Amino acid sequence: MKNHIDRPITLGEFIIENQKDFEYAQGELTALLSSFRLAGKMVNQAINRAGLSNIIGKTGNENVQGEHQAKLDVMANEVFINTLRNRGVVSGIVSEEEEDFISFDNEINDSSKYVVLMDPLDGSSNIDANITVGTIFSIYRRVSKPGTPVKREDFLQAGTKQVAAGYLTYGSSTILVYTTGSGVNGFTFDPGIGSFFLSHKDIRFPNAGYTYSINEGNYGHFPKGIKKFIKWAQRIEKNGTRPLTARYTGSLVADIHRNMLFGGIYLYPQGTSAPNGKLRLLYEANPIAFLTEQAGGKASDGINRIMEIVPKDIHQRVPFLCGTKSLVELVEKFIKEV
Ligand code: AHG
Ligand code: MN
Ligand code: MN
Ligand code: MN
Repeated sequence: MKNHIDRPITLGEFIIENQKDFEYAQGELTALLSSFRLAGKMVNQAINRAGLSNIIGKTGNENVQGEHQAKLDVMANEVFINTLRNRGVVSGIVSEEEEDFISFDNEINDSSKYVVLMDPLDGSSNIDANITVGTIFSIYRRVSKPGTPVKREDFLQAGTKQVAAGYLTYGSSTILVYTTGSGVNGFTFDPGIGSFFLSHKDIRFPNAGYTYSINEGNYGHFPKGIKKFIKWAQRIEKNGTRPLTARYTGSLVADIHRNMLFGGIYLYPQGTSAPNGKLRLLYEANPIAFLTEQAGGKASDGINRIMEIVPKDIHQRVPFLCGTKSLVELVEKFIKEV
């Protein structure tokens, strides 16, 4: 459809225009993605006035991850779960902030075909410092029989089975980025109008990498191959230049968004303090890996393609390398060599 309007198209117009790319569409993709759009606006609004609405700071509770839950973790979790439940297209949810999966046992949802896995608020440690945070989501077609409550197997599918994935980054502007397997597109929220408009069409990793993103404070715990990469990244070329520059925000979504636009690699390796790495396979590594591959990048655990790992536990952690293909392959080579 030609765009007869002299403005970028909205997220809603784009979804409708691209329904054909989403298998089993019947308008469910629109309903699914528009629930992330609505909930994203609500969380964005809360974040933008966090210091004024008593959602700064911790709840005093620990979540299933053993992390001190932030008030915004809880608020974002509730907003996304309630919005998805009300849309009637989701049978159940896995969330970083919920111990086990949630089955929407009401009548309508049982007939829905999809399950959602999400990190409602990514980068929680940054909220009180007013640094970019995000939301990450992953969508699968359920494998158990529609019309019955969801089962654990619906959530333990390999990442290659994702039908859609995306993130919201609440930064200097709020951007929703998603894929349904036909490329990656980004939509910037215009608070004056209350709509998301297409701002980043067909995002592709540039060929060269520009940044490396890793918490170098854990250097002492890193495997040898990772240490070898860090030394490579920090070396001074004969002409005095450095191959990469370091950028690490503490918010996966912020680092991935920058690296996808300008080139770079994000690494959260295993180390003694995190024997399997820190990032969770189902609602951080897999959705980001889907987006990364769709944008021409690569995502692995240092040896295996992230999206081919068959999950065993809903909160399973995985070592994670993700970004510009040549950089991920260089790290994999260093890991293999040592
Ligand atoms: P979350 O806030 O959802 O728990 O995720 C935080 C993750 C990721 O966003 C970030 O890159 C990483 O944890 C930071 O971990 P360290 O503070 O250990 O570097
Ligand atoms: Mn957390
Ligand atoms: Mn996270
Ligand atoms: Mn989180």
